[in-house]
Parts: sequence; structure tokens; C-alpha cells
Amino acid sequence: MNGQHTIGVTVNGIRHERAVEPRLLLSDFLRHELGLTGTHVGCEHGVCGACTVLLDGAAVRACLVFAVQADGCEITTVEGLDHDGTLHPLQQAFHEAHALQCGFCTPGFLMSLIPFLRDHPDPSEHQIREALSGNLCRCTGYANIVTAVQRFTAGTAASANAPGGARS
Ligand code: FES
Ligand code: FES
Repeated sequence: MNGQHTIGVTVNGIRHERAVEPRLLLSDFLRHELGLTGTHVGCEHGVCGACTVLLDGAAVRACLVFAVQADGCEITTVEGLDHDGTLHPLQQAFHEAHALQCGFCTPGFLMSLIPFLRDHPDPSEHQIREALSGNLCRCTGYANIVTAVQRFTAGTAASANAPGGARS
């Protein structure tokens, strides 16, 4: 169609092709074109982190990326974290540590933390707080979020140390 570009992306393992306007934000593409409303939009200018998704494994702010820039990429949204209805261990840790308060910011926190924890499997509290510093929680629930991350890392360490266990 006139002025539109056809892009192909793989989102949570499913391939999608769509014709989009060049100005369409990735956040709007995910929410409105694909119906993946777990990616939340807060500030829409890169400050709050609510829209964070993984683009080829790296955390990016979907409100700062045009959908056309994601052409050919693999995207993971919060909807891609659970496995056959079982929460991702980090989601489970958030649940257990009461780290979801308003819940609006939660998808962004999770998606920022996934690559951080992949690269820092045993982070200090300071490193965790630094990793969280790009995501805003307006209800100041950071203490519980830090606890959730520590709970997660303690759990992965325990399973890695179990007979036959391995850190994933
Ligand atoms: S909505 Fe993207 S950083 Fe706030
Ligand atoms: S838990 Fe979402 S803003 Fe605090």
C-alpha cells in the first residue's frame, strides 16, 4: 500500500508479516497490530521503561523504535515469558515477593531484568538496583522488586547446585 512498508518479525516465536507506516512505533505495532497489550505504554519518550521488550535478545524501549526498524528481528514480549501456562521463574518470584503493586510497570521491569540476569546470574544488591534504575515504579515498590530478583537468583543458584542441576 502507498507509503507503507512490509515488515516481517518473529514475536514470541510466531512469524508475522504486516504492511506498516514508517512512523508506526514498535510499541503501537505490538499492541494494536498484534494485540499484545502486555507491553505497556507510559511516557512514550523513553523515560519510564514500561514498554521494554527484547529485540534480538537485547532490552529496548519499544516506544523509541519504529516497527520498520524491527524488520527481520526476533522480539520477545512479556507474553512470551511463561511456558505452557507456567509462569517464568522470575514472574513467580515477583508474585511471591509481592513485587507487583500497580502492575502497570511490571512487564517493563521483567523484560529489563531478563537480559540483565542472563549476563549477571549472581548480582549484588547494588547491581540489581542499578539494573532497575531505568524503570520507573511510581508507587516506589523497589524494595519488593529487589527482593523478587534476589529470590529468583537464589532459586536458580539452588537448582544449579542440585544434583544434575544446571543454571539456565
Ligand atoms: S513508554 Fe516507553 S519508556 Fe515510557
Ligand atoms: S508497581 Fe507499577 S508503578 Fe509501582
